[in-house]
Amino acid sequence: MRSAKSITVIGTGYVGMACAISLSEQGFVVTGHDSNSERILALQQGVAPYKEDDLEEALAEQLRVGRLSFTTNVFPAVHAADAIIICVNTPTSQSGHADLRDLDTVVAQLQQCDLSDHVFVAVRSTVPPGTSDGVARALQGRAHVVMTPEFLREGHALSDTRNPSRNIIGAESVELAGRYARMLKLDDAPTVLTTRVNAELAKLAANSFLAMKITFANEVANLTEAFGGDARDVLQGIGLDSRIGSAFLQPGIGFGGPCFTKDLKSYRAVAEQRQTASELVCATLAANAHQPLRVVDKLEQELGGLRGALIGVWGLTFKAGTDDVRYSLAQDIIDELGTRGAQVRVYDPKAVRAPLPQFVQRLDSALEAARADALLVLTEWPEFAMVDVAKVAVALRRHVVVDGRNLLDGQRYADEGVRYIGVGIKYLPIARPVPVQSIIETVRNVEYAV
Ligand code: UDX
Repeated sequence: MRSAKSITVIGTGYVGMACAISLSEQGFVVTGHDSNSERILALQQGVAPYKEDDLEEALAEQLRVGRLSFTTNVFPAVHAADAIIICVNTPTSQSGHADLRDLDTVVAQLQQCDLSDHVFVAVRSTVPPGTSDGVARALQGRAHVVMTPEFLREGHALSDTRNPSRNIIGAESVELAGRYARMLKLDDAPTVLTTRVNAELAKLAANSFLAMKITFANEVANLTEAFGGDARDVLQGIGLDSRIGSAFLQPGIGFGGPCFTKDLKSYRAVAEQRQTASELVCATLAANAHQPLRVVDKLEQELGGLRGALIGVWGLTFKAGTDDVRYSLAQDIIDELGTRGAQVRVYDPKAVRAPLPQFVQRLDSALEAARADALLVLTEWPEFAMVDVAKVAVALRRHVVVDGRNLLDGQRYADEGVRYIGVGIKYLPIARPVPVQSIIETVRNVEYAV
């Protein structure tokens, strides 16, 4: 009898990599599979497809101890596995439905493979309700299909996978779901054993709720702005209610990234298919499409037009702590600046290779990017808050900062003579009274002139 269970993880993106490494750390023998041979070659040499946390160190360690290996060949990879975990991409298609082609390809391959008796096939990709029941039908009699959604955040992929907030395991029966949980040693976190459809719905609904919460925070901040108030105090006052909580109440330029918009669109598409209302989700998507434009409008208003203006931009990634620019609203905002006739200088500490339009110049430091008419903050990188405020104030020709993340110390900027406009926060320089002595001097000079 084998001492360690053998697991094959199909797909080596954010979810697959974190899953493969953390299972190997727990003592499972793990094979990571991907059809992208370049990526597999890099992984075999310890080069991770994305950089965050201690991912690359953890990858090197598991390769060293010899429990983790990578291959492009699916047939031997799944042949003797006790569990096969599918972590392939399920992007949004034109129709708003999830594009399941990668999942379908994997299932078609599994249909042709020699699988172990009682093998578990777990779907970990985010999929519309009913999808993993379809996988179960395709593999009927050959595998126990479970649906176990993943809740990791980019930037914390490995730590979130090592310490999940909860596990949701959907299977044919609670008994089978429990068996899968015991095999994968998932008992440290609260666990819901349920049906596959419930598990799929829980994932779509969790992301929709978080996106809705951010959108509500944005709406409250916009309203606070209209009253000249301070959104930080208003939102703190809301979040301190333990029934609401302060997480995901940070207002900004809107939510970006590869998950939220995709999952809300998928939710909307399946609700439409089932003729069920999804009004909150639809309103969230619509509001999130407007929010990024607000920072462009603010800049336009402050500068009296954007045609010919030079805008310094801090941040390109969809949030701090990742090098991911996929579905980053920063890119949409920069495009809009270009459409309205502005030139852009941009700095991001991690997105150093992201493709940029012609009217955008990439700089190597935040201060260099701030040598412009006005500054726009689009990602909440902590290093931006450390930049010398006095130097930025000197660099800014028109003394305007629009902070789309409420990251900077607005009062400090205003003290340096900069108009600071955040999301539901504003600090303006105080017009200092002219000293009496200088008035007397002026009057004297006038007299002499006469
Ligand atoms: C999200 C979910 O958090 C995670 O559970 C799921 O598995 C995948 O989708 P992720 O996309 O990595 O994770 O990023 P997240 O930290 O949730 O942020 C998403 C977007 O919302 C970012 O653009 C972020 O800047 C924005 N955001 C987040 C806010 O604008 N305000 C907040 O309070 C929180």
